[in-house]
Amino acid sequence: MATLADPQPDFAILPDMAADVFTAPLARPAHVGEDWLEPAQTAYTAEDHAVWDDLFARQMEVLPGRACSAFLAGLEKLDLGRGGIPEFGQLSEELGALTGWSVVPVPMLIPDHVFFWHLANRRFPAGNFIRTRETFDYIEEPDVFHDVFGHVPMLTDPTYADYMQEYGRAGWKAMRYNRLKALGALYWYTVEFGLIEEADGVRAYGAGILSGPTEAKFAVEAESPNRIMLNVDRVMRTDYVISDLQPTYFVIESFADLYRQTVERDFDRLYRSLPAGFTYANSAVIDVDNVLHRGTQEYHLRGGRGSGAVPV
Ligand SMILES: [Fe+2]
Repeated sequence: MATLADPQPDFAILPDMAADVFTAPLARPAHVGEDWLEPAQTAYTAEDHAVWDDLFARQMEVLPGRACSAFLAGLEKLDLGRGGIPEFGQLSEELGALTGWSVVPVPMLIPDHVFFWHLANRRFPAGNFIRTRETFDYIEEPDVFHDVFGHVPMLTDPTYADYMQEYGRAGWKAMRYNRLKALGALYWYTVEFGLIEEADGVRAYGAGILSGPTEAKFAVEAESPNRIMLNVDRVMRTDYVISDLQPTYFVIESFADLYRQTVERDFDRLYRSLPAGFTYANSAVIDVDNVLHRGTQEYHLRGGRGSGAVPV
């Protein structure tokens, strides 16, 4: 049986997850195999495609001036605004020609080790289903709009594409130390909710920001949240909010800098010193932070989601 002490696996086949890795079990649907891939993408209805088109149109009203240039360029390169939910085969061909990545359909959130394995092989697992009109504004589980509109354009950027692959490879090391929570925080504050400094100011590259209208404005412009330059060691010690806007966003100088900070980091040493839980609250500002904007936290202090507080 594989154990935590095993060396980095060969990613050609799905490596066994060691029995001494602590993760929440997920029940695998009967129709998917160990790779958790759907046999085919869903056959969407006309209404499903119309939901995509309306979500797309809404985002394009808020994203210019708030999304980073790599994201907007990626939307163009992949022609994601051509109408309707993209067909993954065609999308993968176009994306593959640019950076060697593909997009593969999965039924739901998948286990960490399977997710890492797909990323390590430059495959991005995307939710198969699309939200309905009833859940138009907010969904818990990532759907095809969040995954394809939010994540896939960034994979056209060669440096970002390399970062995502390295993240997948890093996952196996985190499991050896049982520090998946810490690595999850890095994903959260970069891939999902990351900001980048551009010539005209801070812009969003995180998919959680880019796929929702409220957070795009809040993350880039609002007074409430902190905006702090990213430091990998600090971020991996920081708690985060799952079902509300973030109290803090971390900002990178460039994708090359993000790649350097993570790939060249000695994660073995870091994991040995990291506690099992988080050290810093999600709204904390600490001595070593390079702070771009110290947030008022007004939105969260007034109660956050569900309270009627305005995301200012
Ligand atoms: Fe996501």
